[in-house]
Order: sequence, then structure tokens, then C-alpha cells
Amino acid sequence: MLVCSCNYITDKDIRDVITEMLDEDCWQLIVPAKVYHAMAKRGRCCGCFPTVVELIISTTEEYHARRDSTETEVIDFMARLKLFHEEQRRADLERRHKSHRAA
Ligand code: FES
Repeated sequence: MLVCSCNYITDKDIRDVITEMLDEDCWQLIVPAKVYHAMAKRGRCCGCFPTVVELIISTTEEYHARRDSTETEVIDFMARLKLFHEEQRRADLERRHKSHRAA
């Protein structure tokens, strides 16, 4: 499935990069910009970022389900990951709201 029409990136491309990142450090916090940087791409309109966040969360959950991570570790990490992405989303909305008011 095509996720990013600006860069022509599929969900498989994104899941593969996320899995490689998790192989390097399975507890790192992954954000869309980090995924795109690893693919030598960058967000242009960034309309795909909410879908990329969903892919990061689902791929990370699946990754830890296959691994021998304890349930407590995974629950704690997934809660931190979801909170982190929610904070990022709110900060983006605030930034857009402020720039809209300034214009
Ligand atoms: S759709 Fe991905 S940057 Fe525009």
C-alpha cells in the first residue's frame, strides 16, 4: 500500500526500516522523521505522518510480540511510545495554530 505519495514510499518500505531500527535498539523511540531520514527521504507535505505513526506503533508491537520481551516491559514501552507520539501530535497542532494566527 502506498503511504507517502510525495516520496512514493509503501507500508512495506516503512515497516522494513522500522524493523531494522528495532534490531539495532529495540527500546528506541522512533518518529516519522527518523524513519524517513534512514531512507534518505524527508517529509514534504507530511500528510502521511499520522499513518507512519500508526505503522511505527503496530510494527513495534508485533516486533516485541515475536521477541522474548516481558509483558511488563512491552506494556510500559508501548505506553511511553503512544504518549510520545500524542505529545508530538499536540505540539504540531499548536505550532500550526500559532502560525495560522500569526498569518
Ligand atoms: S505524503 Fe508523505 S510527505 Fe507528502
